Amino acid sequence: PGRSLILGIETSCDETAAAVVENGWLVRGARVATQHELHRPYGGVVPELASRAHVDVLTPTLAGAIEASGVDAADLTAIAVGNRPGLVGSLVVGVAAAKAMSWSLGVPLLGVDHVLAHLVAARLREPAKVSGTFVAAAEAPDTPDLPQLGLVVSGGHTSLYAVPDAGSPRVLGSTLDDAVGEAFDKAAKILGLGHPGGPAIERLAAGVTREAADARVRLPRSLLGRGSLDFSFSGLKTALLYAVRGQPEKGPDGKTRFPRSEADLPEAERAALAAAFQFAAVDVIVKKLGRALEALAAEGTPPGAVVLGGGVSANRHLRERVTAWAEARGLPCRLPAPAHCVDNGAMIAAAGHDLLLAGDLADLRLPAVSTGPR
Ligand code: KG4
Ligand code: ZN
Repeated sequence: PGRSLILGIETSCDETAAAVVENGWLVRGARVATQHELHRPYGGVVPELASRAHVDVLTPTLAGAIEASGVDAADLTAIAVGNRPGLVGSLVVGVAAAKAMSWSLGVPLLGVDHVLAHLVAARLREPAKVSGTFVAAAEAPDTPDLPQLGLVVSGGHTSLYAVPDAGSPRVLGSTLDDAVGEAFDKAAKILGLGHPGGPAIERLAAGVTREAADARVRLPRSLLGRGSLDFSFSGLKTALLYAVRGQPEKGPDGKTRFPRSEADLPEAERAALAAAFQFAAVDVIVKKLGRALEALAAEGTPPGAVVLGGGVSANRHLRERVTAWAEARGLPCRLPAPAHCVDNGAMIAAAGHDLLLAGDLADLRLPAVSTGPR
């Protein structure tokens, strides 16, 4: 097969993103319009506002990505769009635009699973550019060492995967309640920090040692049953709430009251609590990676590498811990660049490249679907 130039479109949540990717890994041009400011006053993503904002900015985002790539739209090989899972009113915006482009350019349409796209983001590479013009192509990523142990940690998902050399990834375990990114966002709210919470907690926690965090509070690490590969983060969130606001009491009117508010927290204490939360969440993730590695080895399919993706994989503490964990086991660790951890169009194009090679094409009836695998 010759060179592929795929346009990837992402509108599943609060990022409007597009990118042109060559051969499934080289990011020729990309644009991301984030809606963080729009949703900040509400402390979370408001679906109706999200879909309207996608409508407003998608066309200039697409045009910007194509222009930045230096590729003529007529030379595109295919159009890939994240069509599941996500907010359905947001997904339909990208899906409709992708259909229009596929139809008008006469090129294949590819329907991409957003969560599985996070698993291929680690192979994306940015070429060197000076004032928008290519000066050097990036080096091709290492050939994938399949099978892999995959982990997606995002605002909607916390899932471990067995990534085989052929066929679709298989879910080994996932969260029973909050996704880890959602837990970061809720923890940030409890601590009186802004939305999105992950980066805010990371910033505040930086520089707090494990000893200092432990000295303030020891938060629970919920590992579920022996050998379980599932996750649960709701207990951690509640424990943080009580650490911040004290034990709730029922007032004379029957309403629950907390003795303190997050506004009463001294700044050093807020940082110690943010770090205590981050240590607890990352401890659980690293522990579960270990269990998944053992499970795959016991099945006779030891992975050749570990691959991460999703917004939380941008977290520096998580990256350091997982890198050290993998190194100690002689396992290559594939981490996406931070810009490719959070939602982006390039990962959609990369996953679309694989669908194109497999001949797995969509057509103009492609639906937007709110749910994903499991
Ligand atoms: O992958 P993503 O952009 O969207 C989903 O598919 O959900 O992930 C967004 C999530 C948010 O919950 C955000 O707080 C979290 O990723 N996140 C982080 C960091 N950057 C983003 N969590 C922890 N540390 C970060 N540096
Ligand atoms: Zn995502």
